[in-house]
Amino acid sequence: MTIERAAEPFLLINKLVKEFDGVRAVNDVSVTINKGEIFALLGSSGCGKSTLLRMLAGFETPTSGTITLAGKDIVSVPPYQRPINMMFQSYALFPHLSVWDNIAFGLRRDGLPKDEIASRVEKMLSLVQLTDYAKRKPHQLSGGQQQRVALARSLAKRPQLLLLDEPLGALDKKLRERTQMELVSIIEEVGVTCVMVTHDQDEAMSMATRIAVMSAGRILQVGAPDEIYETPNCRFVADFIGSVNLFNGSVAVDEPDHVIIETPEGKHYVTHGITGTMGMPVSVAVRPEKIALQADEPAQEQRAKAEEHGYNCVQGTITGISYFGNETSYHVTLDSGMVLKVSRTNVARHDESALKRDQRVYAWWDGADVVVLTS
Ligand SMILES: Nc1ncnc2c1ncn2[C@@H]1O[C@H](COP(=O)(O)OP(=O)(O)O)[C@@H](O)[C@H]1O
Ligand SMILES: [Mg+2]
Repeated sequence: MTIERAAEPFLLINKLVKEFDGVRAVNDVSVTINKGEIFALLGSSGCGKSTLLRMLAGFETPTSGTITLAGKDIVSVPPYQRPINMMFQSYALFPHLSVWDNIAFGLRRDGLPKDEIASRVEKMLSLVQLTDYAKRKPHQLSGGQQQRVALARSLAKRPQLLLLDEPLGALDKKLRERTQMELVSIIEEVGVTCVMVTHDQDEAMSMATRIAVMSAGRILQVGAPDEIYETPNCRFVADFIGSVNLFNGSVAVDEPDHVIIETPEGKHYVTHGITGTMGMPVSVAVRPEKIALQADEPAQEQRAKAEEHGYNCVQGTITGISYFGNETSYHVTLDSGMVLKVSRTNVARHDESALKRDQRVYAWWDGADVVVLTS
């Protein structure tokens, strides 16, 4: 877990635009990143993440907009004069140089005194736990170790801002999960502010203090991982992060503390107000793990008092079951034809109440566990 820090604005991106041949790869992006944050730009391929990062590094010139780092406008500052370092997906380690010399490379180029270089390299080696590997060449290291050398090299110059473009893209799944945690603890130990780019939502969720979800050059939502997951602000974000069921309907009751949404699948009682109007088309978003499944009709006592009988409860037939070990996911085909995704954690090894394919079931959820999306 990350420690809560007082938010101190450090990197201000304002109305940033980048056009390539008249096409906007980055389209009016404004965001403020705080000191010490690990900030993730998350989105599918081609949405403009790398272009945004490259403008921060100085490898691309913005078409318009400003970038302010620690109070200074850096748009006209050349890349090598920015207190910024970028680590590339391919690591770009020098194959003929040892680990030690790879880390020392930038420091030598900057003309630092010999003993200062030695002391920094030793410190970095110890930070990334590669002291015993200092004499090796990159090809004598595992993928994860190479990644740590690249990180050590990026940090050796003590940048104020570290940029990571798909930092773990070259690693397989198991190694990636371990390296994610290592990276976070190293970055936090150094205290460097970090902006990372990834298309992998798990990576963004597990590493970042905050995430910006991007689509077609724009930022759709910025928030902490749990905010993005539990309260997405639009259908795209709800659907992009994790798995979600969207019930499409309209507002039938609009009160400050609750709303009722009518959909072809029945009535939804939602225990929060919305910015909307009566009759407005909306979607109710329900995550698969928030839904309970059972063979018998749920008793009213089981459910929140505010909810009328029959609300937030649908009936259907189990048409698919996928077992993943830690959880099982179900497809429940409702009478309207909608296929509901439900997931259940497998707490016990043997589950007496195991549901079967073709079984009729009730699926229900709490009106506090959903969000209403208006866009
Ligand atoms: N140098 C370039 N010239 C022309 N188009 C580019 C250039 N760099 C990126 N683009 C385009 O800008 C869009 C965003 O690319 P990019 O920022 O690399 O996306 P991401 O990193 O999210 O996958 C893409 O449509 C890409 O083809
Ligand atoms: Mg990219």
